[in-house]
Amino acid sequence: MVVYKALAVLGGILLSLACRAEGKRPKENAQKPNIIMIMTDDQDLLMNSVQYQPAVLKQFRDEGTFFERHYCTIAQCCPSRVSLLTGKAAHNTNVTDIRAPYGMYESLQSKEKVDRSSPGGYSKFVQQGLNDQWLPLWFQQNGYNTAYVGKLMNEHSTTNYDNPYPRGFNSTDFLIDPGTYIYYNATMQSNHDPPRSLPGQYSTDVVASRAMEMMTDAASSGSPFFLTVAPIGPHTETLFPRSFQAPEATFPIFNPPVPADRHKDLHPGVQVPRGTNFNPAVMNNTSSYFKNLPLWNQTVIDYYDQFYRLRLQALAAVDDLVTNITSKVEELKLLDNTYIIYTSDNGYHIGQHRLPAGKTCAIEEDINVPFFIRGPNIAKNVTVNHPTSHTDIAPTLFHLAGIPLRDDFDGIPMPVHESQTAKLEHVNVEFWGSNLGEGNFALSLLSSTNNNTYKALRLISDDYTFNVLYVVWCTNERELYDMNVDSGQNNNIAVNFTTSGQNRMLSGETARNPIGKDHNDVLSMQSRLDALLMVLKTCKGDVCVHPWKVMFPDGSVSSLKDAMDHKYDQFFTSIPKIDFAGCAQGYIRALEGPGQDLGNVPAYDPNHAHMFYDS
Ligand SMILES: *[C@@H]1O[C@H](CO)[C@@H](O)[C@H](O)[C@H]1NC(C)=O
Ligand SMILES: *[C@@H]1O[C@H](CO)[C@@H](O)[C@H](O)[C@H]1NC(C)=O
Ligand SMILES: *[C@@H]1O[C@H](CO)[C@@H](O)[C@H](O)[C@H]1NC(C)=O
Ligand SMILES: *[C@@H]1O[C@H](CO)[C@@H](O)[C@H](O)[C@H]1NC(C)=O
Ligand SMILES: *[C@@H]1O[C@H](CO)[C@@H](O)[C@H](O)[C@H]1NC(C)=O
Ligand SMILES: *[C@@H]1O[C@H](CO)[C@@H](O)[C@H](O)[C@H]1NC(C)=O
Ligand SMILES: *[C@@H]1O[C@H](CO)[C@@H](O)[C@H](O)[C@H]1NC(C)=O
Ligand SMILES: *[C@@H]1O[C@H](CO)[C@@H](O)[C@H](O)[C@H]1NC(C)=O
Ligand SMILES: *[C@@H]1O[C@H](CO)[C@@H](O)[C@H](O)[C@H]1NC(C)=O
Ligand SMILES: *[C@@H]1O[C@H](CO)[C@@H](O)[C@H](O)[C@H]1NC(C)=O
Repeated sequence: MVVYKALAVLGGILLSLACRAEGKRPKENAQKPNIIMIMTDDQDLLMNSVQYQPAVLKQFRDEGTFFERHYCTIAQCCPSRVSLLTGKAAHNTNVTDIRAPYGMYESLQSKEKVDRSSPGGYSKFVQQGLNDQWLPLWFQQNGYNTAYVGKLMNEHSTTNYDNPYPRGFNSTDFLIDPGTYIYYNATMQSNHDPPRSLPGQYSTDVVASRAMEMMTDAASSGSPFFLTVAPIGPHTETLFPRSFQAPEATFPIFNPPVPADRHKDLHPGVQVPRGTNFNPAVMNNTSSYFKNLPLWNQTVIDYYDQFYRLRLQALAAVDDLVTNITSKVEELKLLDNTYIIYTSDNGYHIGQHRLPAGKTCAIEEDINVPFFIRGPNIAKNVTVNHPTSHTDIAPTLFHLAGIPLRDDFDGIPMPVHESQTAKLEHVNVEFWGSNLGEGNFALSLLSSTNNNTYKALRLISDDYTFNVLYVVWCTNERELYDMNVDSGQNNNIAVNFTTSGQNRMLSGETARNPIGKDHNDVLSMQSRLDALLMVLKTCKGDVCVHPWKVMFPDGSVSSLKDAMDHKYDQFFTSIPKIDFAGCAQGYIRALEGPGQDLGNVPAYDPNHAHMFYDS
């Protein structure tokens, strides 16, 4: 990186000298594309929210490419945004929750130890040195004019917004706490100005109009620009406990989102889609706290259907924002040289597996998020079904801007252009902390201790031979879903497994297991998934991209399909499994058992396979 930077600086000096002589601005910069990234807050893909956004369908689906298998790698706002903006998995940022040090749950349990007025998510981001190593700064260093409007991350507030300011921006207007989530009285803070309240103005509309001003300014600056637009919709209207918003509350109050007045009658009668996993009568072999979730009664169902409509109504203002931004790009005659992305920080569930509204889980509703891109040479009206993730976004933007990739990126550029052939089949999903349910019934539906710390792997092979979600909970329970036949994740087919090396039991799963077509029984597959997850849980950089190389440095195995060969059975069985020593609210390495970084994952040695691996 030092090399890239030095070259960039040297190049910049030479260019600026040359340009000064010629009296015009650098040609290379003039040709670099603009990038606009619209990022919503908590928008689902799988409860069909996008189907209620005609502007997104017209401007992005019809005019661009839809990545239908795009995933966040940690399903909660702050850690997900930090991963997206740094290109690093949460285990490499250690920004794993919305509050410092470990999360809201712990801080509520130990009020004395935590200074509740102190900044959380944002201060952790700063402490980790990430304010010096993230997208806006990298883009600015590469000649971009950078701007951001809307929510940056949790606990970025009136008390810490200038201590320090987020680095790397030419222009900002942030939604900050305590008014981040107040739709008709947001708190905003622009550049180095003091914060201001916006009573009576609709948050998403203000974000849209500020975005438009920033685009106009940026277009006349002569530099390429990178603008992020992050409206709050459709996040809950969250009130902070023990503040003027909710003085009596000891826990945040997550009210449904508030739509703009003009949208409050939209979508009458629309309900949460009743998929196979919506409030199911039977919860087959679920794990952890899921198994204690009660069946919903009609009162709860009606409440959350209304909650869902309010989300769609709040998204209608986001749709207006999309119309205005795309019209503005056209009006400024920038369409030919501007990439526009539409995505969300994480997904959302309401009632699937009887969960109250919320995110934070490894279920498909929470991790599979909208991702659309349009721009120069991006195919129109095309759907890509290859898995991609939020840790791929930073590399993707570098690729679009022609900036050399950093070697500490944990992902690779998404195949946005047909010429890009490098693709991954795995997505590493992780979480530490609690399930923070939202809405009136959340506290009564969730049990008081919900250990929501887990490592998960979403894997979809090229030809869909394998299409699975594998989860290892901090209780060491395992879950495995064959998504080809069980897209609702209703039937856990994981081999019953308690602690490493003990109590391995095939409890009849293979017999009814559809994955076991040829030679691929569940037990064999699970040993491969365990090994892969073992590598991924502490991976960095290229290891996250090419995890099989740790075990097969010669490249002889580069996919789950390759790894399924029976000649590797003993080898995979010999690798220690993830074995949590407890459920923590944060990333406490010592509780997470063996790891590839501790030398627990050997390389396969074909010459000694028999000697070492046959028992
Ligand atoms: C997009 O493609 C589908 C078929 O894949 C087609 O039915 C539809 O008309 C296309 N839409 C546009 C706007 O081109
Ligand atoms: C992550 O941060 C917490 C403090 O919030 C710290 O206790 C923990 O050791 C860190 N984990 C790692 C792996 O650095
Ligand atoms: C953006 O800020 C950087 C760093 O301060 C500065 O070098 C650059 O000239 C600014 N760009 C514009 C267009 O003002
Ligand atoms: C708006 O929020 C501010 C604090 O952010 C508060 O002081 C003010 O009373 C609120 N105004 C209204 C009309 O609620
Ligand atoms: C969007 O554009 C329309 C038409 O120009 C305008 O009336 C409306 O106020 C704009 N909305 C926002 C949120 O900027
Ligand atoms: C749970 O899994 C076990 C073992 O595969 C099976 O015997 C049992 O029927 C399953 N329970 C349900 C409710 O499907
Ligand atoms: C429905 O369930 C909720 C949540 O458990 C409970 O608070 C409520 O009293 C129940 N209502 C009825 C009518 O049973
Ligand atoms: C494994 O199966 C045994 C016996 O059926 C059961 O008691 C145990 O709870 C199971 N363990 C897990 C982690 O599911
Ligand atoms: C649960 O398992 C039973 C018995 O195997 C099966 O009949 C039922 O369809 C399963 N339920 C769901 C929601 O998949
Ligand atoms: C949650 O984790 C703690 C600490 O590891 C453990 O003692 C407790 O039994 C777990 N609770 C549940 C419901 O699994």
